[in-house]
Amino acid sequence: MKLLVTGACGFIGSQYVRTVRELRPDDQIVVLDKLTYAGRRENLEGVDCELIVGSIDDPQIVREAMEGCDAVVNFAAESHVDRSIKAQYDFCRTHVLGTAVLLDAVRELGVERYLQVSTDEVYGSILDGSFTEQSPLDPSSPYSATKAAGDLLVSAHVTTYKIDAVICRGSNNYGPRQHPEKLIPLTILNALHGDPIPVYGDGRQVRNWLFVEDFCRAIDLALREGRPGEAYNVGGPDECENLEVVRRVLELTGRDESLIEHVRDRPGHDRRYSLSSQKIREELGWEPQVRFDEGIARTVAWYRDNRWWWEPIRRGEYREYYERHYGRPLKSATSA
Ligand code: NAD
Ligand code: DAU
Repeated sequence: MKLLVTGACGFIGSQYVRTVRELRPDDQIVVLDKLTYAGRRENLEGVDCELIVGSIDDPQIVREAMEGCDAVVNFAAESHVDRSIKAQYDFCRTHVLGTAVLLDAVRELGVERYLQVSTDEVYGSILDGSFTEQSPLDPSSPYSATKAAGDLLVSAHVTTYKIDAVICRGSNNYGPRQHPEKLIPLTILNALHGDPIPVYGDGRQVRNWLFVEDFCRAIDLALREGRPGEAYNVGGPDECENLEVVRRVLELTGRDESLIEHVRDRPGHDRRYSLSSQKIREELGWEPQVRFDEGIARTVAWYRDNRWWWEPIRRGEYREYYERHYGRPLKSATSA
């Protein structure tokens, strides 16, 4: 099989390419990535694949990259909710226009299979129970609204043009190579540096944590065995309040709770996410293999052992972003 994987210089896509390499060493993999602030060539270092640098909203480069491919897996995205609240156009461009360009190329080139990587955030917040694939889409942020638009375009292409596509909606991923703008790596790195940890509002929001390797196995199963036209929810095995997550990281890094600092809440903050993964479990036999206790210990150990990976990030665009967003500098950056 020849696969086009978009956005694979990011956190989840780069793990997905590793997963495919392990499961099917003979597959050919082409990566198309724009290398935004979140995309890094280093994430694919030592991994056998061809990298094309370009955007999924560029029809010409998309056709070149997709030529001869049997399947497309679309990870390419602007993935941070807070950034979407500050400026939404890149989100619209990549999630809506980019998805449309990919779908046009899939039709024109007769690509056999398309998988859209999506998120539990398209369903919005749920205080009790869990979302199924039948739940209505009710996104809260520009990030999730544009992801929902991408999903709807995929479904429309299944209905109208009879393309063979599936959608995978994952819950909050964590693990190696996640950009430090996200809660878990931010907490780990701030704890390692003795920086305060900004917790939005009361910190009692609930997320459904999924180790990145488990999500990537689910995506690959859905790509190969999912029923055409279907969406599959992929939820993590553990739900935790943000404060519990932060406390766990503080324990693992040997820091105390005095580092926790409650800050202004995210506008429109979803209180709780929860996915039912019954469909992918029953139809495709997927099961998450990594519980939160194990996954978070592995993640903290990875960040401890891979300073080379995150030091340049903390010196670059992220430092300016952090100061703008949180109204304070990263302590280590000013003391360096
Ligand atoms: P990430 O920000 O780490 O990586 C995104 C990648 O996409 C980067 O390499 C970036 O350079 C690339 N990219 C951005 N715009 C592009 C464009 N126009 N053309 C080509 N490449 C582009 O994101 P992630 O956390 O790895 O998320 C990957 C996918 O998984 C996204 O679609 C996201 O919505 C979805 N998802 C993420 C999570 C999570 O918890 N992180 C959970 C569920 C679903
Ligand atoms: O649910 C899946 C989604 O998970 C993905 O679709 C997104 O791409 C991914 O970024 C993630 O979105 P969240 O908004 O849930 O992740 P984030 O790490 O930004 O925040 C997790 C929780 O922690 C959320 O309730 C907000 C809170 N938070 C986050 C940051 C960055 C804080 O309290 N303080 C912070 O500084």
